[in-house]
Amino acid sequence: MYFPAYRPRRLRKNSIVRELVAETKLSVDDFIYPMFVMPGKNKRVQVNSMPGIYKQTIDNLIKEIREVKKLGIKAILLFGIPSHKDELGSEGYDKDGIIQRAVREIKKKNKDVIVITDVCMCEYTSHGHCGIIKDGDVDNDETLAHLAHMSLTHAEAGADIVAPSDMMDGRVGVIREELDENGFENVAIMSYSAKYASAFYGPFREAAESPPQFGDRRTYQMDPPNVREAIREIELDIQEGADIVMVKPALPYLDVLRAAREEFDHPVAAYQVSGEYSMVKAAGKLGWIDEELVMMETLVSIKRAGADLILTYFAKDAAKILNR
Ligand code: PBG
Repeated sequence: MYFPAYRPRRLRKNSIVRELVAETKLSVDDFIYPMFVMPGKNKRVQVNSMPGIYKQTIDNLIKEIREVKKLGIKAILLFGIPSHKDELGSEGYDKDGIIQRAVREIKKKNKDVIVITDVCMCEYTSHGHCGIIKDGDVDNDETLAHLAHMSLTHAEAGADIVAPSDMMDGRVGVIREELDENGFENVAIMSYSAKYASAFYGPFREAAESPPQFGDRRTYQMDPPNVREAIREIELDIQEGADIVMVKPALPYLDVLRAAREEFDHPVAAYQVSGEYSMVKAAGKLGWIDEELVMMETLVSIKRAGADLILTYFAKDAAKILNR
């Protein structure tokens, strides 16, 4: 049936009809809110390039988690800023490291919050790379044992899900094995499967104090032109035992997200990263775009492309709108 018999505008005539026929709906249930925790007491520092996002000590983090829960957000992703960094990133797998302490404290009073921990060495290494350096590059196989050990300490502290973001080959398999051997077969793995070497991580690296001190991450993170390779990466992670697979960043990689959704049955997560957040915030502040509308449009686009879960610094702002 064609015009004039068929008129698509009939179903756009008001917001009630539009909602009736909406193909995609955002839900607070799908949001994961990333948070940064640092050592000390009663400190809270706003990340310069990320208005509304803070690095904070455990006490303040727990206060914010209360607010997060009230908004209906059920999951957080934790990043740690250690008190000292070294070549091996040893605070990353210290039982009393910042993340391990934070998870224990959170879980004491917040059993209902799903705590996801970032498993990666770059926040903990003095050189800022995501693994052990050998001959000027990150050594894949040396790094694996460290990641497995780090994951175990997160599980022991009470993490529900560990999220390896390092992009080493084979890490999901060794992490699964380590968790299972130690009785943590119910701790899930959300793998950053298709994580691109992206300039959109800039603000995060300021927040986590983790820029690489030499070179870049292109020998381990994915090359932006590739999408078939993303499918291979995701397939490997699923074979190795990933429960949730992720595409990151989100908005510039919606085609990758769509391809992943079509190819696999596993839950697919999308990470709307720091740079995506900062751009919207900055343009909004300048009055160049309507921040709220653009934020909601980016989120619904990510969902429409195929994301089941959305990691976003906008989680609280978007939840406030969805709860209205
Ligand atoms: C750690 C890690 C990064 C991000 C998440 N985990 C930074 C990086 O790989 O350089 C980026 C998150 C963001 O930009 O919001 N490897």
